Amino acid sequence: MSTKTPSDRRQFMKLCAGTAAAVAGYSESLVGATQPGEFFQRVKLLDDQRKPLLASALPVDKSHLFFYPFVSTPCFLIRLQTPIDQKVRLETVQGKKYDWPGGAGPDRQIVAFSAICAHKMSHPSTQVSFINYRTDEVQYTGKDRKFHRRSGLIHCCSEGSVYDPSKGAAVLGGPAPNPLASILLEHDPKTDELYAVGVAGETMFDSYFRFFSDRLRLEFKTDDVRAPASDAVPVVAADQYCRQQILC
Ligand code: FES
Repeated sequence: MSTKTPSDRRQFMKLCAGTAAAVAGYSESLVGATQPGEFFQRVKLLDDQRKPLLASALPVDKSHLFFYPFVSTPCFLIRLQTPIDQKVRLETVQGKKYDWPGGAGPDRQIVAFSAICAHKMSHPSTQVSFINYRTDEVQYTGKDRKFHRRSGLIHCCSEGSVYDPSKGAAVLGGPAPNPLASILLEHDPKTDELYAVGVAGETMFDSYFRFFSDRLRLEFKTDDVRAPASDAVPVVAADQYCRQQILC
């Protein structure tokens, strides 16, 4: 199911395989996917000084947030402890198949996902976040019906969905029907800068704006919460953006 309005369609290019080859290295693995990623505007990530965020300067195992592809859609940015150089084939319950290409950056440790839970769209706000990247151990019942404890996962305390950021945010447990949508990153090895270039998977953006627009207008102080992100967006530590992180 398409999640975009006609105005959104003007903001991105859904690339055919030939055109996608022009997009730099990291996102090329989506070319071979059954359904390629949706390439939105290319946006440079900035640090807290509003200078280009350098991939090698991003702290390991710390959750960060940025807003992409729209001004009010939150995304996790995480530098995992180990390189992720394996692509993962994922499929949504809507039948959308895509290859998550692994980590970006010099050590392929950096991953990004929509921070809108694929169950009932719990997401970080300035007041509170029930969905968080966890460096402590999370307990959950897996798809194998066994009890697990693991750190380094994204956990939504609303109803207990658990996602594995080292596997494209695939669902490990809980009621979420789909992985978190993947945010496609590019790394420029010459400058060490990072860019967000697209989205793959089930984004839920239409539902998100339908349910939360009133609150988003207040939080982002704009009537146009569905405006595309600007050419460069700041990355902030999740624990600075959210007053309270619920860690159940
Ligand atoms: S909204 Fe995240 S588990 Fe229900």
